[in-house]
Amino acid sequence: MLQNRMRQFIADQGGAIPFDAFMQESLYGRTDSYYQSRVNIDYQINGGDWPTYAIRPYFAELLSRPIFRQLSEFNGQGQLVELGGGTGAFKANILKLGQDQGLKFKYISIDNSRKLHHLQAQYGGESYLTSALNLPLADRSVNGVIFANELVDAFPVRYLRAVITNDVFSHFEELRYRVKRNNIEHQWLPADDAQIREYWLRQREVLELTDGFSWDWDILNHQMMAVNTLQADLIRECSRVLNKGKIILIDYGNTIYNLLRKGAKWTIFASPDHLNTNVENMHRLAYFADLSALVNFSDLEIVARQSGLTVQWYGPQRHFLWEQITSQEEVEVKKQLRENPTAYTLNIQLLKNEGSDGTSKVLVLTRSGAD
Ligand SMILES: C[S@@+](CC[C@H](N)C(=O)[O-])C[C@H]1O[C@@H](n2cnc3c(N)ncnc32)[C@H](O)[C@@H]1O
Repeated sequence: MLQNRMRQFIADQGGAIPFDAFMQESLYGRTDSYYQSRVNIDYQINGGDWPTYAIRPYFAELLSRPIFRQLSEFNGQGQLVELGGGTGAFKANILKLGQDQGLKFKYISIDNSRKLHHLQAQYGGESYLTSALNLPLADRSVNGVIFANELVDAFPVRYLRAVITNDVFSHFEELRYRVKRNNIEHQWLPADDAQIREYWLRQREVLELTDGFSWDWDILNHQMMAVNTLQADLIRECSRVLNKGKIILIDYGNTIYNLLRKGAKWTIFASPDHLNTNVENMHRLAYFADLSALVNFSDLEIVARQSGLTVQWYGPQRHFLWEQITSQEEVEVKKQLRENPTAYTLNIQLLKNEGSDGTSKVLVLTRSGAD
């Protein structure tokens, strides 16, 4: 059914559409899109064999530590703004922790999924059904913390590949979808678009300045990259509303250095081949899809600096979480690991998860107050 609708959508758009338009429509578009109505909430709440970390109380507990430290500076007047909170599991956990610790703050949830917004709203606080890219908050009105886990990851991306001719970088081509003989197929067409150009100029400048990278020598012909054009918009929007405090973003992505030097692999849900064969597959577990696995997350850091924010921390999720535990707790976790390395307890699993270490990154941005 989705396959039919997407065929029609591509035709209505007049032919070869970019991947982000395709994703936007199927994930967030009309009333029957994935995030509007089809999210498998039962799976997320009860957990399957691959539950998202935000659902786990220990994840919220570890993150509550830097969040509460920041909020406690505002004497009960601080705000915690969560963007794209999914089922509201993180919200429920952190509100309970705050209550247990007698900490007062205002909780504001923002989500653009009707279904998930409804779930989040039941836990109280202010809750808005709108996009994180267009926050219903005044300029410099937030004193506290803006938090998002796996939001950037859920933004539609565009796919590019480099074309190298006679050993010299020539241009990028962009992946586009079209309908041919009633099948959805992809094709690569020259990428010539202001947003893509702006993005690539930014990456190019950084690479050339920081480590003598040469586009002619270091990029392989047809090497693929993803561009998340919305992530820069998100940083600018968060910067607009933050007066004093922190922005904490956790997401799956890479550094441009890794992406270009090592090459990178598609994750199963983000592969165009996978989508070609069956669009329905993408929706099976879209909530867990790493659309941004081929995206350069260092770009978030670059845009943050350009937006006047200070980058306080940027690195793997696992390192960030370790930093939140006390030395006594660390001794205890290490002891448990030594005694039973295969133990599958949620806490240990969270801290030693190798997958997260590779691509899940935490970015902490700060602003010290009205200037
Ligand atoms: C992958 S889920 C992550 C949910 C939750 N933070 C977690 O870690 O379990 C992505 C969430 O972002 C929301 N979302 C996606 N795009 C959004 C946007 N532009 N504005 C606000 N929310 C968005 C989705 O509705 C969903 O709740």
